[in-house]
Amino acid sequence: MSDTETKYILAIDQGTTSSRAIIFDHAGQIVSVGQKEHEQIFPRAGWVEHNPAEIWNNVREVVAQALSKAQLNRHNISAVGITNQRETTVVWNKETGEAVYNAIVWQDTRTQRIVDELALGSDGVADNDRYKAKVGLPLATYFCGPKVKWILDNVDGARADAEAGKLLMGTMDTWVLWNMTGGVDGGVHVTDVTNASRTMLMDLETLQWDEQICKDMTIPVSMLPQIKSSAEVYGVGRKEGFLMDIPIAGILGDQQAATFGQACFEKGMAKNTYGTGCFMLMNTGTEIVPSKNGLLTTVCYKIGDQPAVYALEGSIAVAGSLVQWLRDNLKMFDSAPEVEELAATVEDNGGAYFVPAFSGLFAPYWRSDARGALVGLTRYVNRGHIARAVLEATAYQTREVLEAMEADSGAPLAELKVDGGMTANDTLMAFQACQVGVPVVRPVVAETTALGAAYAAGIAVGFWQGEQDVIDNWAEDKRWEPECEQDERERLFRNWKKAVTKTFDWVD
Ligand code: G3P
Repeated sequence: MSDTETKYILAIDQGTTSSRAIIFDHAGQIVSVGQKEHEQIFPRAGWVEHNPAEIWNNVREVVAQALSKAQLNRHNISAVGITNQRETTVVWNKETGEAVYNAIVWQDTRTQRIVDELALGSDGVADNDRYKAKVGLPLATYFCGPKVKWILDNVDGARADAEAGKLLMGTMDTWVLWNMTGGVDGGVHVTDVTNASRTMLMDLETLQWDEQICKDMTIPVSMLPQIKSSAEVYGVGRKEGFLMDIPIAGILGDQQAATFGQACFEKGMAKNTYGTGCFMLMNTGTEIVPSKNGLLTTVCYKIGDQPAVYALEGSIAVAGSLVQWLRDNLKMFDSAPEVEELAATVEDNGGAYFVPAFSGLFAPYWRSDARGALVGLTRYVNRGHIARAVLEATAYQTREVLEAMEADSGAPLAELKVDGGMTANDTLMAFQACQVGVPVVRPVVAETTALGAAYAAGIAVGFWQGEQDVIDNWAEDKRWEPECEQDERERLFRNWKKAVTKTFDWVD
């Protein structure tokens, strides 16, 4: 038996709502899965936190689950890849290994004032795009830099400790990697280019921290991780009983990992992942394409010494989390998939439109003053119409992002590759194809996020030879053609656009 038949790659997917460990075989098929949700902490309106210690415990637990379900042990694992919710920021003490504050989650809007001050700059002229040419991102509460500043400004003693070199900063990949590779006993403090590109602190051209931006945000560069490629051996497991001596060889932010797992290796290829939020990425090759239409420019991946590949990204803050909100906050049903049954009880949205601007609006608007709105209500509207409006919201937002992408890239999209939990929802996918006007295609392995991180790690250690293996393993499962009545499609989208304008100017 060859080595690749007895060995596997393990991916750790540290997501917004849960941590998962997935073991893949050489054909890119799932062998087993471990999963555990973690607490969502909402201390105030607009604040969202996670407990980093809970997440690290969960990561260990889910890896053990995945190994035991498959009756494997660490010796069967060739390498580990890490993928993660991006932008979520943790600051910890390298001597104690303890976080100085909860992780501030990407959806959190507490840094609005910091962001406004940074936009004003020293010249006093408000400019949200002050750093965009360098980092590819507009100033927004979404990204890490302002979150780090908030922690240093607000946690007792944090700034002094950071300046004394006692504190480290990281996104969740870095936190997990540092703990896996020994923690206080010499843990490796590293991130990859894709995660670094979401901090607002990395120059897209040099792929290094930008000292001036760090200075503007009063962040000591010494607390930032070293930036590495997305596929190389960063270190080996050093925690007793936890993947000891196994190389950790791949890191990609979750959306970039999904792009990789979907084999979007050619310029112009795009995927859309329907998770907590919804994120469309289009590969732009080795070219850094600035957006004129409200998209982000970001690093897509970098394999070892090869040049970095970039992407345009349309980020939608709320997609699956709106369904969870209906379940948890409004108690409209017991489990998320029931939203489809409820939506199927009606023919259409009954005139209702739900704009889920819970964290402001991300692409293409970047309006932090926006808040959620449910409009178009009459006494005719029932639970089914609201469920329908909730599903449609994701499809309209995706269309807005896709149109921005086509405008920026100057090329129409041939088809949209999709993945993530909501792609199991047939009603949504059919409606999505209708709204975007191109076929929507789902692969057999819909866990493309974990798969992408596994591929990066596997390529780094020679388990897979390269991108061609990823392409060969990719297979289509289902395709939705854009079959719908054009006038109706446009009428709905016009109404959606009108609904969006009702969400502006809500923050005093
Ligand atoms: O940028 C945030 C993103 O990485 C979170 O992804 O999977 O929680 O929607 P997800």
